[in-house]
Amino acid sequence: MIKISPSILAADFTKLGNEIESIANADYIHFDVMDGVFVRNISFGFPVLESVRAITDKTLDVHLMIQSPSQYAAKFAAAGADIITFHIEAEEPDVSWLNPVASDRVRNTIDTIHSCGKKAGLTLRPSTPAAAVIPYIDRLDLVLVMTVEPGYGGQEFLPRTLSKVSEIRAAIDRVNPKCELEVDGGINIETAKLCVSAGANVLVAGIDVFSVPDRAAHIEELRGSV
Ligand code: DX5
Ligand code: ZN
Repeated sequence: MIKISPSILAADFTKLGNEIESIANADYIHFDVMDGVFVRNISFGFPVLESVRAITDKTLDVHLMIQSPSQYAAKFAAAGADIITFHIEAEEPDVSWLNPVASDRVRNTIDTIHSCGKKAGLTLRPSTPAAAVIPYIDRLDLVLVMTVEPGYGGQEFLPRTLSKVSEIRAAIDRVNPKCELEVDGGINIETAKLCVSAGANVLVAGIDVFSVPDRAAHIEELRGSV
């Protein structure tokens, strides 16, 4: 089944409680953390995550766009994250993408997240090839393919990322079929279909969900159930 993870980056923060109620039929809640260093934008962090955790039992899908994710994993786990996804480029900025081998740094960060009792996700920028994350799929709970450059909501979907979704889907089916495959950025009814055809099973959507009055109906439409 296709899962929908609305990104609260696009929510109205003056009434976050109501915004979260309005997406009650979503599967996950996507929580974008930006540090102003790994990406050129700053969003929100621990206090907001704790507040969201206090009002929902839904799976909190935390996307870390930060440097040194391993240093913060335990704190995000304690603040209420269920899935903690970090960028491979934050751990291995100099890795040779043409000939990737599994690195201890990336493995250790995955293990740190698991030792907190949380699910571990790995994500990659649009310019990073699928081969960079494939060596870790056997130990991951989720791979997130960025379908826009991370840092801002409301950007246009990059069609060139679709072949990467297919490539990673094939690797997941081969080595760890339980691993989820999520896409994030510029997702709407049209691009959702393309991503699902390419093999994604979790769709993040920010503006597309929060800009419509009937979020519940829109979530069902994105899921492909109407
Ligand atoms: C971008 C974030 C996304 C963003 C998606 O850096 O990772 O999660 O909120 O926003 P939309 O769906 O509006 O493109
Ligand atoms: Zn995100």
